Amino acid sequence: MNKKTVFHGFGVLCLLLMSAVTLGAVHEVKDGESIQAAVTKAQTGDTIRVFPGTYHETVFIDKDDISLVGVIEDGEWPHLDGEKVLNDAILYSGNGFSVEWFKITQYKGNAIMGQSGNNFSIRNNWVIDTGLYGIFPEFGHNGLIENNILSEIEDAAIYVGMSDYIDVRNNQVFDNVAGIEVENSRHVLVEGNVARNNTGGILVFITPGLPIKSSYDAIIRRNFVTNNNTPNFAIPGSLVAGIPSGTGILVMSGDKVVIEDNIITGNNTGGIIVTSGDFVTEVASDKESDPHSDQVEIRNNIMFDNGNDPDGEMKLLMLSKFSTKGPDILAYQSATQKERGSCISRREAYRSYGLDEWTDCDAPTVRAVDAVVSADDIGTTRQLMTKMLEAPADPRVITADADGAEVVYSGICAGCHAYNVRLIGPPALVIQAQYGDDVQAVADYVANPERRRPDFPSMPPQGHISEEMRLLVAEYMLGLEG
Ligand code: HEC
Repeated sequence: MNKKTVFHGFGVLCLLLMSAVTLGAVHEVKDGESIQAAVTKAQTGDTIRVFPGTYHETVFIDKDDISLVGVIEDGEWPHLDGEKVLNDAILYSGNGFSVEWFKITQYKGNAIMGQSGNNFSIRNNWVIDTGLYGIFPEFGHNGLIENNILSEIEDAAIYVGMSDYIDVRNNQVFDNVAGIEVENSRHVLVEGNVARNNTGGILVFITPGLPIKSSYDAIIRRNFVTNNNTPNFAIPGSLVAGIPSGTGILVMSGDKVVIEDNIITGNNTGGIIVTSGDFVTEVASDKESDPHSDQVEIRNNIMFDNGNDPDGEMKLLMLSKFSTKGPDILAYQSATQKERGSCISRREAYRSYGLDEWTDCDAPTVRAVDAVVSADDIGTTRQLMTKMLEAPADPRVITADADGAEVVYSGICAGCHAYNVRLIGPPALVIQAQYGDDVQAVADYVANPERRRPDFPSMPPQGHISEEMRLLVAEYMLGLEG
């Protein structure tokens, strides 16, 4: 045995010992039984194994370190089926949550939504038509979204919302409005995914009026972004309804975004669009958010056959440039300006518009193997393996006070309510005007929402939040100032 194998063997032994110490109980759920009942019985650190069968339920997980593991037998998956009646398949607010090997279909809201949970892992799930969002960690730190397949989602298939230190790897997203969306999030690696036949493939942007005000440090690397020409089927009036069909990658108000080594072909409006915040929404309406896209680096992508049939406003823009074709790369609005500090490598290889003031990326893309890498050094992406943290983030604790209310609002309500723009639900400003300081009325509505607006979907009940916390969150929402 050489030194290396001894070391390796020792490592495996350590791992085994560690898992023997930390491994919790295993609960099994068979067809006809309830997953939620198993979660209720489970304690921190436990694993729940779900066998093939069809499960019509919403599973809430507020405990820490729970693993939900599907068991596949003879090609049969455990199948969470919302039958277009239920809102959500899996909602977790616990830390250290992991879920894998589930087939999830026909929900109205989300397949898997994280509500402030940190240190999560969402892998190997198969999601079809779960309504607004597929996989949606909201307000989480340190997470992995890997090897999932998602289709037919009305908003974003994978939606990284107000989250930090997230890897999105090797997923396949198709036939959705937005394939992968990184919104008001920082330190995100989107790598090795296939985003095809969506309305827009991969998006990095800021939504105004949310508690987190910026989107920066994203690496979009080694993805296949192809034929994202599906007509936009988002709810009219929602933010993503403004995404032009035929968009490969869109950066809107994102800073320090590296787009590198992707294959981007067949997107009819454009391969990469970099723009400022009034492209799809009014980011400038949020005084604390910077609407400009700064320090975008576009390096070494393979691009051809983009822009064959630009959509809507983009078509007019191209006609004003005496072209009926859209570009591989378009810088638009303030993104064209020199002071934005963006760069492009091999610019002559692409049909591009608006990049005249961009500099050539100077740092070589291939670096010395022993180069020192810092997580914030955007010039070194080939050295960088992950944006996840080396050690788990501190678990999020929800206290019964104003701080806790802020976490709950950010993790749940902000998924649908921004301050001054319409998301899935009406803006908080409108709700403030309606309710004044009637905290009790908001808390009651949240537990039992009734249909009020014909042009909005109905709001899913949040009765799983305690009365005490609902009052605190209501107070928080009615007191919001931006
Ligand atoms: C999945 C999306 C979603 C989430 C999450 C959500 N809401 Fe809503 N909310 C809506 C929609 C949609 C409406 C509009 C419903 C209607 O008018 O029929 C709405 C309406 C409201 C209203 C206005 C009711 C009225 O009388 O007009 C209040 C108050 C409200 N939400 C509070 C909250 C709070 C507090 C939370 C967090 C605990 C929350 N919502 C979470 C989607 C959501």
